[in-house]
Amino acid sequence: MSLSIIGNWKSNGSIKSNESWILEFKNYFNDSEISNLAICPPFIFIDQMFNLASGLGLKIGSQDVDSSSGARTGAISVEACIDVGCCFSLIGHSERRELFHESNIDLRQKVIAAQERGLQVVFCIGEPKEQHIAATTNEFLEEQIINSLSDLELTDGFTIAYEPIWAIGSGLVPNNDDIYKVHSFISDKLKSRYGGKAKKIKILYGGSVNKKNASSILSIDYVDGALVGGASLKFSDFRAILDFCN
Ligand code: PGA
Repeated sequence: MSLSIIGNWKSNGSIKSNESWILEFKNYFNDSEISNLAICPPFIFIDQMFNLASGLGLKIGSQDVDSSSGARTGAISVEACIDVGCCFSLIGHSERRELFHESNIDLRQKVIAAQERGLQVVFCIGEPKEQHIAATTNEFLEEQIINSLSDLELTDGFTIAYEPIWAIGSGLVPNNDDIYKVHSFISDKLKSRYGGKAKKIKILYGGSVNKKNASSILSIDYVDGALVGGASLKFSDFRAILDFCN
């Protein structure tokens, strides 16, 4: 399975800085074969990025999506995501769960809405520091998976992003053995629920991936790629991660 890299820009970027990012990406694209590379800009910049990146093999995703449309001020519908060219959406990023109080049940509704309309899902799970310290990570993740995904058939392209909350933006990263154990645990859970189909579900790692640790993290068994926040904002940093994959 080829590695997938997704840059999550969060609430960063500007019309001008996005243009510079794409300019650097274009130079890189000329001498590299790109596959399975995506960025999630803030929704307001998606159209700009979609146009700038046209023909460059860069996929565009949304950082979040709503489970419905209509009278929901400020929300972004699945239809709107698809309309502006997103082929997938992140769902359940820990910042959405914490800052916007999205529950496992809310996220389940989002997954259903996205899948029904053909928008691929990158579903984020991850444990807070207390669970990591108490060594109850597996139980915590299993609950997130069961409460949001149980009984759902997962459509093509469904991806899990494992992001320990304490590793996000902190510079702290679990050791390789811990990442291996958690990813193989998630893989086993998916296999027991989805059988042979589980093989197609990629499991990405996210949380302080950077140009120094990417090659080591991306070499771990059961790690099918990375969800990269801070290190995707400057193309020079992101490039070093992409170099490892191409
Ligand atoms: P980070 O963010 O790479 O800056 O830790 C990852 C994420 O939140 O997806």
